[in-house]
Amino acid sequence: MAMSSLRLRLALNLKLRSVAAVSFARRWPGTRCTAGHADERHATSSANEQLILGIESSCDETGAAVVSTTRGLLGEALASQTESHAKHGGVVPDLARDLHVAAMDDVVAEALRDANVSPEQLTAVAVTIGPGLSLCLKVGVAKATKLAHQYQLSFIPVHHMEAHALVARMPLHDDGGGGGGGGGGGGEDAVPSARARFPFICVLASGGHNLVTLCRGVGSHTILGLCLDDAMGEAFEKTARLLHLDASGPGGGGAALEKFATLGNPKAFPNLPVPLRNQRGPKTCDFSFAGLKTSVRMALEKELGEGWAPSDENASVRADLAAGFQRCAVKHLEERTDRACEWAKSLCKRDGLPAPRQLVLAGGVAANSSVRASIERICGANDLELVAPPPRWCTDNGVMVAWCGAERLLRDDGVLAPPETAEPLEGEKYDLRARWPLGDDAPRRELAEEAARARKAMTPSSHKRGNARAAAARMAKGAPYDRRKRVHAPLGDESS
Ligand code: KG4
Ligand code: ZN
Repeated sequence: MAMSSLRLRLALNLKLRSVAAVSFARRWPGTRCTAGHADERHATSSANEQLILGIESSCDETGAAVVSTTRGLLGEALASQTESHAKHGGVVPDLARDLHVAAMDDVVAEALRDANVSPEQLTAVAVTIGPGLSLCLKVGVAKATKLAHQYQLSFIPVHHMEAHALVARMPLHDDGGGGGGGGGGGGEDAVPSARARFPFICVLASGGHNLVTLCRGVGSHTILGLCLDDAMGEAFEKTARLLHLDASGPGGGGAALEKFATLGNPKAFPNLPVPLRNQRGPKTCDFSFAGLKTSVRMALEKELGEGWAPSDENASVRADLAAGFQRCAVKHLEERTDRACEWAKSLCKRDGLPAPRQLVLAGGVAANSSVRASIERICGANDLELVAPPPRWCTDNGVMVAWCGAERLLRDDGVLAPPETAEPLEGEKYDLRARWPLGDDAPRRELAEEAARARKAMTPSSHKRGNARAAAARMAKGAPYDRRKRVHAPLGDESS
């Protein structure tokens, strides 16, 4: 099956509209387009319904979608640049910008057509303004500004990572409109049938970001863990490159590595390290994948010699290392997520919030079946329901942006008046936020600083005593609970 056709099948949930999409892809070489399927979505609208167009262009996907505040998704379209960037070994900003420019008008038109909605029927345009590549963000923001001015629509700036988290709340058609994912924090919710209910925990693992957050509400997120170096998807990609895998298919190097790892023995290299396990001092919920990637490179050189070239003879060593890398990376994600679950619960308790009942898994890496299985285990152990959006909404897309806009519109939070001009006036600039923290980072920073201080101060003999004191201090502040050692604090060496 051709790759574009495979991608289409995923996007349409086996309902293909290949003619329109293939001809689109032909018109824009370098992009692959997918369009949603609208038939069952055009049923009925209600008087208080509002329609939002969402536009995403922060990295290498041009996405657009139309959602209804009452009926969820109405139509979507996506043009992917993965193939074009694969040969360069990463996203090339200039090329990405040009491909966004080439695809944007048609992707937006396709989403509107798929939804059977005209621009005049819209209430608002939502668009990702950050974080992301400025050159790319600008293309989406320019299109959104032009449309919002032309049709006098409200303008809703969207945080890319909040969109990843909130799309898990969008009601799905097969819910029958009746209700969401069950459980939840209770209280008033602007979206009565939301699948994930506040507060919930969100694990976001993609090519550009890796974080775990406590989502208290729209625009209210506490960051529990961040990536200290390469994001998980990035580490998968770089390791795939080290192993000379073909990253041009859907899911890039990450998906290629997952597939190749099925041929290997994950325990063949038992010395590959699970990251940050042997770090002295209190533990945080932060992630680090760069060291693991380096260990794979060193093991390759040791086994195959410097300057080695891929061959059938060394395929089994490479597959073993792919499997070993995946085992350690997933274990690291699992351990940090487990700790974050306990921390989130104690923070909610401290702040008088109901305990989180759900964990949302988002980002491109969520497509990995070992990742899903391991996070499912953690959810079971922490009495949480796993809410994992369909894989096509885990990677970058317009649906998440449109839905995030709907959430803001429903609360009248961060909704701007229609722009006065179609483009910035001379001397003005678009509001782009290439770097933009998702939320409150103070508890995480405090814990990280404390951990660093403790590591510095600790001699091997004072290590245990230091931990006990830190444990008591952290317990008072709602620190993560270590299930294995049954204490309310990050501990020293966890060598198991
Ligand atoms: O969320 P996303 O589409 O884009 C970013 O915002 O980064 O995620 C793309 C990332 C890529 O790094 C890709 O290698 C990774 O997700 N990925 C995977 C898999 N499928 C995609 N990583 C591991 N296993 C997979 N099956
Ligand atoms: Zn993303």
